[in-house]
Amino acid sequence: MHELYTVLAEYYDAIYRRRAERVRDEIDFVEEIFKADAKRDVKKILDLACGTGNPTLELAKRGYEVTGMDLHEEMLEVAKRKAKREGLTIEFIQGNALEVDSNQEFDAVTMFFSSIMYFDENDIKKLFSSVVKALKSGGVFVADFPCWFYGGSDGPIVWDESADGEKLVITDWRIVEPGLQKLHFKRLVQILKPNGETKSFFVNDILHIYTPREMRVLAKESFDEVKIYGHLKRRLDPNDRRYWLVGVK
Ligand SMILES: C[S@@+](CC[C@H](N)C(=O)[O-])C[C@H]1O[C@@H](n2cnc3c(N)ncnc32)[C@H](O)[C@@H]1O
Repeated sequence: MHELYTVLAEYYDAIYRRRAERVRDEIDFVEEIFKADAKRDVKKILDLACGTGNPTLELAKRGYEVTGMDLHEEMLEVAKRKAKREGLTIEFIQGNALEVDSNQEFDAVTMFFSSIMYFDENDIKKLFSSVVKALKSGGVFVADFPCWFYGGSDGPIVWDESADGEKLVITDWRIVEPGLQKLHFKRLVQILKPNGETKSFFVNDILHIYTPREMRVLAKESFDEVKIYGHLKRRLDPNDRRYWLVGVK
């Protein structure tokens, strides 16, 4: 589990290069949510499962006081290096999102890029409790997630990227177990070095599938107000495939 965030952490930004290009649009949308849905001014943010920090850095660039937390030190090392290079002051801490050790410190908590899918039904309840504890009254939690029931089992998908002269060939399989609402996310990453040397890594993660309705029901146990939006707009349309959970404390 989690090879993508440990042995492959240095390659994460190259693998998700195209998604990194969309981060500014995501943060535009999240700022819209802060203004419209939070019941307090948002200044201080905890970015959970921050990974290599793409959304974390963008939030800091826009003037928020941001803390990034991730389970994996390898991801945080990349994030810290990027923040230093950009002259941004961000506190990065290693920790489990289920055990956030902050008491009513944040105006907002964010969790980007499907990270919430790592939590099964029991853990997602623990996650929400942990988030609510970290939030100030009127603060807001924002997390995005896809619905993989539709077209999730096709594969393999193969593509390539470059990273500092190395060539990456990435092959993905996504196997959905509809009855269990589990997504087996399997990925082979082959790295071709300029001298002809090759290395291969296999990622085999289990993610948990939630429909917008299930997410709403689960979140309602912890938050005073819950909204589910479609992708980058404050409404949910019938054919939306990516959702944004908003929970207000
Ligand atoms: C898909 S990546 C998203 C990273 C980042 N949010 C982004 O938008 O690029 C998922 C991240 O979740 C982190 N993660 C998984 N389980 C976690 C947990 N229990 N607590 C904190 N972070 C966790 C992984 O280490 C990884 O960095």
